[in-house]
Amino acid sequence: MAFKKIGIMTTGGDCSGLNTIIQRISEYAIRHKWEVIGIKDGTDGLSANPPKIIKLDDNAFRFANSHLAGSILSNGNAFATNFEKSAKDGKLASFNKKLKKSLQDLQLNSLILIGGNGSLSLAYLYNEIYSGVSLVCIPKTIDMDVPLTDKTIGFDTAVQQITSYCDQLLLTARSHHRWFVVQTMGRDCGKLALNSGVAVGADAILIPEIKFDVDNLIKHIKQSRRDYGIIMVAEGISIRGHSGRPADMISRALTNAGIPNKPAYPEYLQRAGDTTANDRILATGFADTALKAIENNETNVMVVLQNGEFKTISLSDFFKAGKPVKDPNIVGVMTSNAYVEPDDVLLQIATDMGTYIGEKRK
Ligand code: F6P
Repeated sequence: MAFKKIGIMTTGGDCSGLNTIIQRISEYAIRHKWEVIGIKDGTDGLSANPPKIIKLDDNAFRFANSHLAGSILSNGNAFATNFEKSAKDGKLASFNKKLKKSLQDLQLNSLILIGGNGSLSLAYLYNEIYSGVSLVCIPKTIDMDVPLTDKTIGFDTAVQQITSYCDQLLLTARSHHRWFVVQTMGRDCGKLALNSGVAVGADAILIPEIKFDVDNLIKHIKQSRRDYGIIMVAEGISIRGHSGRPADMISRALTNAGIPNKPAYPEYLQRAGDTTANDRILATGFADTALKAIENNETNVMVVLQNGEFKTISLSDFFKAGKPVKDPNIVGVMTSNAYVEPDDVLLQIATDMGTYIGEKRK
């Protein structure tokens, strides 16, 4: 097999499963006598002069650590010069030039970009940067808001983390006859809250994709056979005339209606936690598909899982399939997003189980 020099970069918010992909790719590359380098700190590190890199050889990575969350390469520093800051300062063109020059200097045959819908949309929109390398993208995000793939790395572990968190909360909830309003991450997508809510057996699940009525929610909770439980709310929901964090807003409304409750925030635990077996299998399948794409000299592609099949699709198909949404962090950029569809099987299942999921599908 022809020698290749490949790079791996993790961008956007971290999640569990990134190290599994990095390990699987490195293992394969080393076995095939390819050279594999890790770019540190995402595009912050790639834009540095010289670019921040480490060689991913047998000494760089302990196999036993590949189940740990986070990324050994880091995803970027909040204060570094990045896409967001460059776009805001009107310096995106020169930032992009730096990225392109670094890739040329590194003399890579291929770059594996592991990112969420923001990073993948940017990779499509500013594709010129990667013109000298074969670019293969791997979708990761706990939000599961990347179009055209059934799963993204980190989602399964995040659902498990929220489930374990709620399992613990339910023990104290029962002792004090109170409810917990648990706020999940997920940005404007409700998939994380919906899946976690079903896993936990929540009494209510509120997501941005479905309108809900607070009075009906209150009625539903008051009619419950139990006097404790979980009300799962996605961070992307809003209530007209109310401000503050969604879990606080719902909690206040329940308190005013005489329902004892507390808001609860699993926060960044959702992005941590030992990578679940499902996420490890997904990471391994994505790594294998990405490596095959490199061997076949594919470029501007993203690996996906569709109906049990691992394959690549073009970045252009990914971008066009999603709903374009303005990214508040990146001036002038629309990202491509996926949401809970009205025919999502979990909506019906939750309803059948007596869970309040709102009123009308938007
Ligand atoms: O996109 C992943 C995510 O964890 C979202 O669910 C969340 O809203 C956001 O990132 C938090 O990002 P930050 O790390 O900037 O607080």
